[in-house]
This record gives sequence, structure tokens and C-alpha cells, in this order.
Amino acid sequence: MNTAIYAGTFDPITNGHLDILRRALQVFPHITVATAETVSKRCTFTLDERLSLLREVTRDMDGVEVRAFEGLLVDFARELGAKVIIRGLRQTTDFDYEFQMATMNARLDSDIQTIFFLSSLEYLHLSSSLVKEIATLGGDVSQLVPPQVEDAIIQKVK
Ligand code: COA
Repeated sequence: MNTAIYAGTFDPITNGHLDILRRALQVFPHITVATAETVSKRCTFTLDERLSLLREVTRDMDGVEVRAFEGLLVDFARELGAKVIIRGLRQTTDFDYEFQMATMNARLDSDIQTIFFLSSLEYLHLSSSLVKEIATLGGDVSQLVPPQVEDAIIQKVK
């Protein structure tokens, strides 16, 4: 079975991302969770912090490896021998952006397929930015992120 890549910024990883990862593991036994070294948006967490949180929260998941990558995602996929990119879809508003990325990645390498997993209902409204905003304003994010991430956000926004 193919290795698959679940790529994102993960600034930081949320329960929504973990939900997609758990469900994708039922289809792909080996998944590399890949966080981009250089991203167009400004990150709250450094690359090392994002990697370390990703490793902590996926520690007990068999078949998961966490890596950073630089440059094009399709080049990293080729380097790993991965033929599948996993993305999560939350709402129709994600579709335009995801469609553009998937078709551009297919154009860059037609051997690599993007496969979408629909977010579970309880995570449809979740994003890393919202979690950070809620924590900054003193709200409770314990239902939205794993405990290690909650601690890291609270430290960060202090
Ligand atoms: N649950 C909760 N949140 C989710 C989610 C889910 N299932 N799926 C997406 N999100 C959120 C993220 O938290 C993030 O929210 P934020 O903007 O508030 O932080 C947002 O949706 C999108 O983030 P993410 O899924 O991490 O995608 P991205 O657009 O930040 O990163 C890369 C995408 C890194 C995969 C992409 O930029 C990339 O491939 N970069 C490499 C360069 C490249 O190849 N470019 C050419 C691409 S065609």
C-alpha cells in the first residue's frame, strides 16, 4: 500500500487535523505528516515547535512519521516515494483553494493523487487561527486541541 503524505502548516495541530489523520490511517497504513518549513502565512509556532507538538500528539499512532519539508510538496512526495497527498475538507469554502492546489499539484506531477477526507461534523468550524484567537482572549480550547497543544498555546499567548 502506498505511503501517503498529510501536509499542512499545523500552526498548531488541532483535534480536527487529528480526526483527519486517524481516519486516513484506516485507508493508508503509513502516513508522513509533513509540515512546511517555509509557508506564505506568518506562523505563531516555530518549525521546531510545530514538529515537536506533531511528534508528541502522534507518538502513539502506529504508522505515522513526522517530517519537515522545504520547497514543493510534490518534490517531497517524490523523495519519499509517496503517491498520495491527503487533505481535509471542512466546508464548501475550503473547496476553491483545495481544488486549485490539487489541480496544480497534479499538473506538477501527474503520478501523485490528492485524496480528500471530509471533516467530522464536530470539527467543521475548527481552524488553528480560531483556536489561537480564543486562547488569546482567555477562552477554553481544551475540547479543540490535545492537552500538550493547549499548554503550548497558553504559554505562547501569555
Ligand atoms: N481541522 C481543523 N483545521 C483544519 C483542517 C481540519 N481538518 N483542515 C484544515 N484546517 C485549517 C488549518 O488549521 C489552517 O487554518 P489557519 O489558516 O487558521 O491556520 C487552514 O485550514 C489551512 O491550513 P493547512 O491545511 O495547514 O494548509 P495550508 O494552506 O496552511 O498549507 C501546504 C498547505 C503546506 C500543504 C501548502 O502550502 C504547500 O504544499 N506548500 C509547499 C509549497 C508548494 O508545493 N506549493 C505549491 C502548491 S500547489
